[in-house]
Amino acid sequence: MTKRQSGVEARPFVYQGRTLSCKDVALDTLADKFGTPLYVYSGDQILERRAMFAQEFAGVEHTVCYAVKANSSLAILKLLAKSGTGFDIVSGGELARVMLADQKAVERVVFSGVGKQAEEMDLALNSGILMFNVESEAELELLAARAAALKKKARIALRVNPDVFAETHPYISTGLREHKFGIDIRIARKVYRRAAKHQWLEPVGVSVHIGSQIRSTEPFGAALARVVDLVKQLRKDGLNIRYVDAGGGLGIEYGTGNFDPAAKVHEYANALKKAMGGLDIHLLLEPGRFFVAQAGALLSRVLYTKVNGSKTFVITDAAMNDLIRPALYQAHHEIWPVTRSASKKTLVADVVGPVCESGDFFARDRELPTVKSGDLVALLDAGAYGMTQASNYNTRARAAEVLVRDGKVKLVRRRETLKEMLAQEVF
Ligand code: LLP
Repeated sequence: MTKRQSGVEARPFVYQGRTLSCKDVALDTLADKFGTPLYVYSGDQILERRAMFAQEFAGVEHTVCYAVKANSSLAILKLLAKSGTGFDIVSGGELARVMLADQKAVERVVFSGVGKQAEEMDLALNSGILMFNVESEAELELLAARAAALKKKARIALRVNPDVFAETHPYISTGLREHKFGIDIRIARKVYRRAAKHQWLEPVGVSVHIGSQIRSTEPFGAALARVVDLVKQLRKDGLNIRYVDAGGGLGIEYGTGNFDPAAKVHEYANALKKAMGGLDIHLLLEPGRFFVAQAGALLSRVLYTKVNGSKTFVITDAAMNDLIRPALYQAHHEIWPVTRSASKKTLVADVVGPVCESGDFFARDRELPTVKSGDLVALLDAGAYGMTQASNYNTRARAAEVLVRDGKVKLVRRRETLKEMLAQEVF
């Protein structure tokens, strides 16, 4: 393993004096101006992560296809599109977002997902995306029918399931045969052969994605090595395979451990390059979390504190509907006070939201600097799968989002109103 220390900060949120800031922008001023709960993203950091990929994969013909599901803010998509980034989408809705952000980026779009529907295929075929990552034989049949009906050739890769285990939360692990994702790599060759016979299908790639928040880079290499073997077989079969899509999944450090993002990308790139073994191919990469997670924080105001029996609770105005990761995956998010007090006093508390469920928590038995009603806290590393997984549960309006870039602040999504929330209903 290559160790490299880049000195790049893992998070853009740092204390300036006693106030937590995003680069030079004090977070309390943002909360005062835009209200809470508020997502704050550092555009600079997102581009910094993007640049790390560009640097480490410079020697390889490649396209980075950012996984839109991690954070689909149009402002962020636009920022990434401008730097030549492509996109990994999983729905017609996400494709519409990419087209709004930058029409030209469509040619760098790959379409993943186990349940693509006919209208979504039509939209993708008509707009000329780069490639469909097909996940089943049944999907292949429907895609062939839609492509024939529209007289548009569908470039395809099969997403193969390599049967590689990667240590992560079971809900976000995808690379084992027992998971719903992909086509068993052992039968892939047969499916490719069938696809190649179809007039409106053009097999151009092989794709793989083994899961998300994977900290070790080894499983990425193991999965890709299997894909490379398959590519060689397929080429022997006469197929013109030009793309290998290595998927996403590169993890970050949510806790307090040392984390050097640049060194991590270096290690990841080395693992992939080694597995490719000089194969002449265009590599596609689908990072999501790694680009946006640490660039984002969820700002929230403490409503109350209370003691029930032996437990102390800190009740915030953000809840599981804003950030569901702790409730859904027992995920850890650091919680930092926006204003650091001079005293070193701490409390041990459950940090919870107002939603009527005991599962509505951000942290349990966490030692925190003492906070009181009215204080602001920041939930860190909330830029990925935060806002995109937000809901209106308990008829709570979704948060506003702010993008900080070059020291400038832009409200990129205003807070939802009650009226908007109720607008689709009739009674
Ligand atoms: N490509 C495909 C085909 C995917 O399914 C995913 C994520 C990605 C790329 C991007 O993976 P990333 O680089 O972000 O790990 N909601 C969960 C994560 C779900 C991941 C789903 N697929 C969470 O909050 O941890």
